[in-house]
Parts: sequence; structure tokens; C-alpha cells
Amino acid sequence: MSVATIEMKPIAYGRDCKTYLLWDADTKEAAIIDPRFDHVARYVREIEQTGVKLKYAIDTHTHADHLSGSDRLRNLTGCAIVMSDASKSKVPDYKVADGETLKLGGHQLTLLHTPGHTPDSMCIFDGHRVYTGDTLFIGSAARTDFMGGSPEKLYESFRKIEALGNDVEVWPGHDYNGHEHSTIAAELETNPHFKADRDGLITMHKIKGDLPANMAEILSFNTEAGIEENKIIKPTDVASFGTPGKDFTLLDSRYVDEFEAGRIDGAILIPLPELHDRWAEVEKLPHPIVSVCRSGVRATMAMMTARHAGDENWLLLEGGMQAWQKADKPMVSDTGKDPDVITSKFAVGGSCAAGGGTCSAG
Ligand SMILES: [Fe+2]
Repeated sequence: MSVATIEMKPIAYGRDCKTYLLWDADTKEAAIIDPRFDHVARYVREIEQTGVKLKYAIDTHTHADHLSGSDRLRNLTGCAIVMSDASKSKVPDYKVADGETLKLGGHQLTLLHTPGHTPDSMCIFDGHRVYTGDTLFIGSAARTDFMGGSPEKLYESFRKIEALGNDVEVWPGHDYNGHEHSTIAAELETNPHFKADRDGLITMHKIKGDLPANMAEILSFNTEAGIEENKIIKPTDVASFGTPGKDFTLLDSRYVDEFEAGRIDGAILIPLPELHDRWAEVEKLPHPIVSVCRSGVRATMAMMTARHAGDENWLLLEGGMQAWQKADKPMVSDTGKDPDVITSKFAVGGSCAAGGGTCSAG
């Protein structure tokens, strides 16, 4: 096995979620850790620019706070999806046992089963760095109060991480405070969760937090199936469906202030939180339904609600209104101002942000 450190690039397009691209310099075989669905097009560009071949997409656990990009990356690159054998997800190609390894050229990644945040949580050790997913954060720790979490198991998992050695670098799956990486020694010194004794950790984790927003839709996407490529369309495809409201429906799932500030002409509004209760209206709409929101995340969740209602005749406008605006397509507004794509005040505290509905113990 090579003694050189494996190549690694952290990719963080969101404020808080961390994705890592790892590759062997000689063979260019690569793995991506915890990709997000809404950033897949960017990952594909990164992969092309770096000149690597994606062999594995690894999800460190079943994510409840954001949509995994692994399924779409598999569709686009042919990579295999890897998760823990404790996962109930139907999505992965390989489910790995504790201590199992994956080869990237002359390097190997060791998958460590580290339950605590969820029963299927893993950390990935490349010989120099440990990618801790939502198990250990810099100065903090995973929450253990939902999804089968357990502070007792988290304590044992922390000891497994500690045993990797003081100099090993810690690269977490989230960071809410602008840190990039740390070391096991530094976390043992300063992290109140990591340095706590068993009883202390259990006491610290007694507080229950809010569940992540739209958790049912996110879990459906992450554990059953994502969206097939032929159901993902671009702004330039929309005109081919005919007249919205007659030949098909443009269903916008944003909040009313976003819809009023700038939308596609002919779109109708059903904010995502209302979709379930207003399903009878949706059934009467002309199909197919093109699902649109600001960036594509809420529109995807709307498609999960539709899937559970037995309606698969939906299409996703990739990149949402942001992509529509970028493509210079016309918008209308009700505000008297130039139409624009805005971020709603209601959308604060989205999928990975701190302040409730996150994966951090706080
Ligand atoms: Fe998580």
C-alpha cells in the first residue's frame, strides 16, 4: 500500500454541509463522501476538472436533513453507492461491515461502524484523516435524540475514533461555526462531548431537539429511490410541454413571498408545507406536473409527497427558479418591481442550518 496521503478536496457549497472528494493520484480512482442532491451538477464538473473516475459514493449514514446526491451520481457516472450494513436503505450497491475496506488505486479506505447519531453511522479512515460524518463535529457532536440515536453507542464510537491516534485529522460532515478540520488530540482537549465520560455524555444528550423539516420526504428519497434522470428537465425543456394550466401544470412549491417576487408565467402556487393537505386539488391538475421551487430541493420533496400518493407523473425543473433566471427565461411578479428570485424569510433554517432541525447536538 502506498504511504503517500490520498488526494482529497473538501467541497462545501452549502453553508454547513461538507462533502469530500478523495482520489488516488496514480489511477485517478475516486470516492465522494456525503454528496448532496442539489449540488450534483457541480460535483460532476469538479470530477471532470480533477480528471478522476468516480468509483464510490459513500453516505456516512441515512441523512434526515438533506437529500443525498449518491443516487444521481450513480446515474450520471456509474459509481457504486456504499453505506453501512446497518442501513435499511434500498439505495446502496454495497453495504459494508465494520472494518471493511474499499480500494482506491494503492490506497484503502477503512469504513468504521460508529453508531450513535443513527444506527447506520460510519466514519471513513484514509490512514491520515478520519471523515466523521455526523458522528463527531469540531467542538461538538451528533445529536442522538431521533432516528434510533443513542448516546451510549456514541460514547463507544468516540472511543473507536480516539483509538485511531492523536495526530489523525478530523474532517466532519457538518460544521456550523466556520471550521474546516481538527485533530483527534485537539478534540480530546477541547470538545466537551468527545472528552466527556460516559455519564457526562449521556447527560449532555438528554435534550430533545426539533425534527428536521420535511423529514418524511427526505427519508423517502434517501432510503427508497431518488429521481430517474428522464424525470429531470432543464429550463429550455419547459416550452415543449405546451401551455401551462392546459397541457401540463407548473407547480411552484415555494412560499408566497417568493412566488410573488418572481415566477414562471402560468405557474400555480402550493407551498410545500400545504401540499399534503391540498392533495385533492393536485389530482385535478393537468399532468404532467413540472415541479419548481427556488433551487430544486423543495420541488424534489414535493415529488416524494406525490410518489407516496401514487402519482409518478411529475418532472423536476433542475436548479429551480435560480436556473430559470440564469437561463434568461422570462418571469412575472406581483410586486411592481422587476421579477427576481428571492430567499423567503420563511425559508431560514433550511435543511442543514443551525438552530433546530440539524444533525448537531448543539
Ligand atoms: Fe445526520
